[in-house]
This record gives sequence, C-alpha cells and structure tokens, in this order.
Amino acid sequence: MQRRRFLAVGSRFAGLGLLTAPLSSLAQMMQMSGMMGGYEQTEVPLLELSLLPARQKLQQPQKLPLQTRANIVTGKLEAAVSEASLASHLRTQVWAYNGQLPGPQIVVNEGDTLAIEFTNSLPQPTTIHWHGLPVPADQDGNPFDPVAPGESREYRFTLPESSAGTYWYHPHAHGLVAKQVSMGLAGTLVVKNKADALADLPEEHWIISDIRLDAQGQIPENTMLDWMNGREGEIVLINGQYQPDIALSGNQRIRIWNACSARYLQLAAKGVKWLLVGSDAGLIEKPQAIENMFLAPGERCEVIALRDAEIESVALMSKYYDRQKMMVRETPQDTLLASLRADINQPTIPENLRQFPARKTPQASQQVAFSEAGMMMHHASGNLQQQMTGMFLINGNVFSMSRTDLTSQQGQTELWTISNASDMDHPFHLHGNPFEIVKRRQADGREIVPAYRAYYDTVNLKAGEQVSLLVRQDLPGKRMFHCHILEHESLGMMGTLDVQEV
Ligand code: C2O
Ligand code: CU
Ligand code: CU
Repeated sequence: MQRRRFLAVGSRFAGLGLLTAPLSSLAQMMQMSGMMGGYEQTEVPLLELSLLPARQKLQQPQKLPLQTRANIVTGKLEAAVSEASLASHLRTQVWAYNGQLPGPQIVVNEGDTLAIEFTNSLPQPTTIHWHGLPVPADQDGNPFDPVAPGESREYRFTLPESSAGTYWYHPHAHGLVAKQVSMGLAGTLVVKNKADALADLPEEHWIISDIRLDAQGQIPENTMLDWMNGREGEIVLINGQYQPDIALSGNQRIRIWNACSARYLQLAAKGVKWLLVGSDAGLIEKPQAIENMFLAPGERCEVIALRDAEIESVALMSKYYDRQKMMVRETPQDTLLASLRADINQPTIPENLRQFPARKTPQASQQVAFSEAGMMMHHASGNLQQQMTGMFLINGNVFSMSRTDLTSQQGQTELWTISNASDMDHPFHLHGNPFEIVKRRQADGREIVPAYRAYYDTVNLKAGEQVSLLVRQDLPGKRMFHCHILEHESLGMMGTLDVQEV
C-alpha cells in the first residue's frame, strides 16, 4: 500500500521532470520519480545528538518583563539574529525574540490592554502574530502589515472577557513564516482569569518545539522534503531543553504547546494518565481522562497528571503518528521527550470547569477544502520554495495578497465546513475568534460529535476528513485561515477572510 502511494506520487512528478526545469531541481525530480524506497528527510550531516546536554532539570519559561499602569501592560520585543548555545562548545546562529529560545513568555489577565513595542532587527520583513487571540485585525500581525527590517511598531490590544487560555506568538510575513520559525522565532502568551475553576493550581509549562542542527551546530536550509511534508527538526526540545528531567507533583495545571512547524505530537507516559482540562482557548466544559495527548502543529492543551500505577521515573514519549507524508518511508518510531519523576498528589478537580453560552443557529456558512496539485512549472526558475508554491491549495487556489477568498459579517454565527481532499493530514487554523467543533466526518463516512464543548483555533484533518465548526468573528477586517504546517502556509496554503463591519 505504501508502495502504491510512492508510485502515485512519483508519477505525479515524473511528467514534470520532462519539462524544462533548471538542472538542480530537474535532477531532484528525476531522483524523486525514480525513487521507490522513500527519502531521508535530510541531506546534510546532522549534529551528534550525544553533544546535547540531556537530563537537566526542566526550567520554566523566562517571562517578558512587563510594566503595568492601570490596566495597561507594556513590554518590549525585538526579533534579531543572535546566538544560542544548544550543544556543548557550539554556538548556533538563531533568530530569536529578545535573544531567547523560546521567546519570552507574556502573562496577562483578561481585561488587560497589552502594548508591545516591537523592533525588527532581522535582515527581512516580519510581524508578530498573536496566535489564537481575538485581537483587532490591524494588530494581528498578519501578512498585510509587515514590519520592514530596522523598523518598529506597537502592537496594542485588549484581552476580552472569556479569552483566558494558552496562546503563542510567531512571525507571519508573507512567504517567510516557515524560515523565521525554523530559525527560532516563537514565544508563548498566557491569558489568565483570576476566577477560573483551576486558578489556584500551580502552573507548569511545556513548550515543545523542534530544531535541526547540522554537524557544525548550525540550522540548515529546508530540503525539498521539508517543503513538501513540513520541516521536522530532529531535536525536540521542551522549554528549549533537550530531554530534560521533569518533576511531576500531580497538582500542577500543565499547559502544553505544540510550537513545532510540522511535527505532530502524541504525548504519553507509561503509568501516567492525564486529565484533559483545557484546549487552545481555555478550559473545556468537563475534565476528560485520556492516555495520549494529541497535538497537531500549533495546538495547545491543559492537563493534570493522574496517578495510574506506582511509578518513580518514566519516559515522556511522543508516540509515532502516521500523517501520510509524501515520498518518505518512515520507520514508526516513538520519540523520547523527557524523563518524568512523579510524586503524584491529586487535587480535587471540579466536575464542571466552564459554562458555555447556548449555541446560536448559524446565519451563514463557509466551505474550505484542502487539496494538493503537482508542482507548478512556471515557478521552475526560482528557488525550491518558489518552485513548490502552488502544490498545496485551499479551495483550488494558492494564497494571494490581492484576493479575498471568503467574506463574512461581524458578529454573525457561521457554520464552516472544512474538508481535506488531499492525501495527507493538514491542521486547519483560523485567525480572530476561536471556534467550536460541532462534528467530524471521518474518511470512512463515520460521524463523530464531540462529547464536550471546547474552544479551538487549530484542528487537524486527516486525509478525507471533514470537520464542521461554529464560529463568530467579533471584530472586522482581514483574517487569515491556513494550514499550520508552516511550510505549507509559506507555500501558499492560506486564504483571506474579510469580516465586514456592521
Ligand atoms: Cu499560528 Cu496564522 O498562525
Ligand atoms: Cu494564528
Ligand atoms: Cu498542510
């Protein structure tokens, strides 16, 4: 079956190889079309993993220094080229916010106004996008508002009621997101509600990211397979640390971010169960006991560790998940993320975590379909990214700054139907307000209605799946929707929703 898939994909490119492509990419395509066994994801010699300092105590993320006057919270972020020491004796050139990997964490409360003075010291345009937060369109750091190299701007927005949750920020300049995030630009943001059902629990944060380092400890350029499947750095980090030691006390509210560009996470530890209490955008309706925490790229969750068996030290793994990559034959392999030491002391968790308002009947509907196409030969003269732009489509189109794909009305409840007509998983992400998932239809036609209510801004779709969402955009302006495999987004798997003011 795998083999048929390779053949199908191979023949999709075989035809293209006959056209006039530049020698380098033609050679790559020929190689690809003749290939049956699958490629390695990387082409350069990689860093010896034993050079990474494992088993150090997990540090909590560094916080961004903030000044608070009345309800206005101010801080400064600068995106710049800097150096990190990830492996012994090696200095890695990275792009980072305030020189930190991951970027400094911003913690604010519902009702606060956050004002961030941002400076772009990178050699190319960038923005800061506040992933998941319902901020005004012109403060959202979307591709329509790039900050040129050497320039500064302020991002200012107020965190509305009921926005408490687990968010992050990352660049969103047109075509440059994949590169900038793979170089290290991403940080986290937590919005608190001092009165929420779990406000008294101590917090523990796991920001999971990945990075690729070559034998010299530098971050190499994307390969063709990185663009095709999304780039998975071989080194998976928690809070910037490699395979750290984590002490679990059991009464912690653990917030987990999948800040990887393309890596899917399925977190599990033998002898530990997890009580899922939060999704992307805050607490869910009722706690749910789960064994695996599935997080597509861009997703977040909140959990509490549950005692299952008497355990002392266990491995926190990310279990293999087959997302149907193209051209790659993967050996199903789990990834070790950390060692957990558990001394679990169970808190009492309320049965109801959050009141959700009654669902409104949708007044409009929107359709979004993911699909794949062959490589577009009119881009044949450009670099890899340009050549591959147009391979991943939304509603048959590649992203264009000058086209509005969907239009909706401010304040109106809409039913969105997202379908994945491609051959691999793609995580759908929408800017602006969070959504509720109302129904999922699997590739085999089976329909699943979620057992509890929750707000998300990112949802994964397997090949052939369809997901129905309810969403209301409270603020007018242009909103992006895209695949959150960042290489796909940067290849144009993105559209613009224009929310009209009423
Ligand atoms: Cu996290 Cu439009 O992105
Ligand atoms: Cu976003
Ligand atoms: Cu995708």
